[in-house]
Amino acid sequence: MEPAAATLTCWGAVLGTAVSLPLLLLAAAPYVRRYVAGGQCKSTAKLDGKVVIITGANTGIGKETARDLARRGARVIVACRDIAKGEAAASAIRAETGNQQVIVKKLDLADTKSIREFAENFLAEEKELHILINNAGVMLCPYSKTADGFEMHLGVNHLGHFLLTFLLLERLKQSAPARIVNVSSLAHHGGRIRFHDLHGEKSYNCGLAYCHSKLANVLFTRELARRLQGTKVTANSLHPGSVYSELVRHSFVMTWLWKMFSFFLKTPWEGAQTSVYCAVAEELDSVTGQYFSDCQPAYVSPWGRDDETAKKLWSVSCELLGIQWD
Ligand SMILES: NC(=O)c1ccc[n+]([C@@H]2O[C@H](COP(=O)([O-])OP(=O)(O)OC[C@H]3O[C@@H](n4cnc5c(N)ncnc54)[C@H](OP(=O)(O)O)[C@@H]3O)[C@@H](O)[C@H]2O)c1
Repeated sequence: MEPAAATLTCWGAVLGTAVSLPLLLLAAAPYVRRYVAGGQCKSTAKLDGKVVIITGANTGIGKETARDLARRGARVIVACRDIAKGEAAASAIRAETGNQQVIVKKLDLADTKSIREFAENFLAEEKELHILINNAGVMLCPYSKTADGFEMHLGVNHLGHFLLTFLLLERLKQSAPARIVNVSSLAHHGGRIRFHDLHGEKSYNCGLAYCHSKLANVLFTRELARRLQGTKVTANSLHPGSVYSELVRHSFVMTWLWKMFSFFLKTPWEGAQTSVYCAVAEELDSVTGQYFSDCQPAYVSPWGRDDETAKKLWSVSCELLGIQWD
């Protein structure tokens, strides 16, 4: 081939690729998005007359879960540590759904005093509780402790919700059928319960601390479900997917990566689907002790299926919180 013709062919190929690649990506985008979005809760169940508590419902997955359950008619308690943020979320949900029964209550899971005050207040004001969604969470926190001296991830993600559930359980039993939904994570696969160093005083890694706390969510759910057999109160845990939320706020790198790859992450609405599914799906009426992802049962790590560790974690958690929960 003549050098001129070869150059022309070469440029033709470059131009062709430059034009067709973006077109190809554009055509594939809806399919990629559909894949990323994952499972969707198909239930049309209404929740009129039902009372729901969602922790951390002022933003992210919790806010979208609150919006969905409010749309179904539930009385939704937005339990959050920042009342102003909670009010902003609640008033948006009230305006959008027309449901005026979206109420904000103060709850700081990093302080057992606040958890006790929240529960006391709730039990005094509300006669029933049908759905408790333990959703709030922190990730990648620099080493810090809760007001009670617990490592932050373990304290907020596990111990705070453990105490909250303990304080509200009788009301759930009285209101049965009732459901407890614990928002865990796929990250539980990387977790271990380090009984010798629960508060990371000997060694600490913020990523692993998150994984340990999410494993604790799975083990807590498992043991809770076992203890609740026959009460018509179920307990399930779930992975919401990788969701574009504020969860990564403590890490500059992760915040940047989350922004860069947001197209490949679930939206908070998509991330809320499995929480909503566990809270309302009719086919889960008597399903308990399970772990879900994308609105279907999912694989639990061997450590998340270890009943001995679950029992030990239960008694250590009671000890740390100074409660007796038989
Ligand atoms: N996003 C993901 O990719 C992903 C993946 C797997 C699992 N999850 C789990 O999904 C749940 C929700 O996370 P998200 O993605 O929606 O994150 P998010 O947008 O950061 O929301 C977390 C919520 O938890 C609240 N919270 C944090 N510390 C609290 C405390 N001490 N007391 C009370 N509330 C507190 C936050 O309140 P403020 O706004 O006041 O901080 C916020 O409302 C978490 O349990 C998380 O582990 C998320």
